[in-house]
Amino acid sequence: MSLESDLDRIVSRWSPRGRWTVLTGSGVSVASGVATFRGKDGLWNNVRAEDLATAEAFGKDPRTVWEWYDWRRRQIARARPNRAHEALAAWSRRQPGFTLITQNVDGLHEDAGTANVIRFHGSIWELTCWESCGGGRSWEDRRVPLPDLPPRCRDCGGVARPAVVWFGESIPSDVLGRCAAALDCDVFLVVGTSSVVYPAAGLAGQARRLGAFTIEINPEPAATQVELSIAGTAEDVLDRIDQKIAPEVS
Ligand code: OAD
Repeated sequence: MSLESDLDRIVSRWSPRGRWTVLTGSGVSVASGVATFRGKDGLWNNVRAEDLATAEAFGKDPRTVWEWYDWRRRQIARARPNRAHEALAAWSRRQPGFTLITQNVDGLHEDAGTANVIRFHGSIWELTCWESCGGGRSWEDRRVPLPDLPPRCRDCGGVARPAVVWFGESIPSDVLGRCAAALDCDVFLVVGTSSVVYPAAGLAGQARRLGAFTIEINPEPAATQVELSIAGTAEDVLDRIDQKIAPEVS
């Protein structure tokens, strides 16, 4: 089948009253200049995830972990949404049943104006207390660079941590609840993720079992549980789908 007919197959399922759910990973932000984790220039090629993205590493050396997060915040602060983010934002405005689940902590989907975003792995722009407050409440701090590392909790003055999900940590139950509702959809698109990190990697299979048409968009397709794989970049393929959807809704 040609790319064009695959795209037509996807667009034929579009309806403003439909329910589309999209799961994104770091590949959607590549065209914005944000590094992936496991690709050619991936972050985990140079540093060990266990040394920087675990509670254990933070407990041992919060300053080193924060230096890495502060570096990533500087990189992300320069990034702007690309055509992939913009297309998804447009769909979220046109379809009230649309949900975006993102593993990305960069905030670029929100910057593009996407409605109904579920941040599966949290936000690099939010902090939460590591000490006596117990991490119940998070707050936004967009200062780049952060003036003091490690930053401090606004309430108790203890050490603060990035409000992101680290390896070995659970996804918050309210996030899982919103995701469960979004899996009951017409179309489930997996975009720009290597589909190796669970539980996010299991969502497409769950949506498929619930009856969704499941699709992957990735230059190197990786998801095994989808019905249609499109080998292409997010910024190109989502833009092409958007151009086909746009005349239908105007
Ligand atoms: P990965 O680095 O594992 O995978 C990035 C994927 O993006 C790969 O499959 C690439 O083929 C694909 N890709 C590259 N360029 C692309 C483009 N222009 N358009 C579309 N796709 C492209 O990143 P994630 O799957 O996001 O978790 O990683 C999942 C989680 O692992 C992250 O959320 C993070 C990380 O450790 C935590 O920090 C908890």
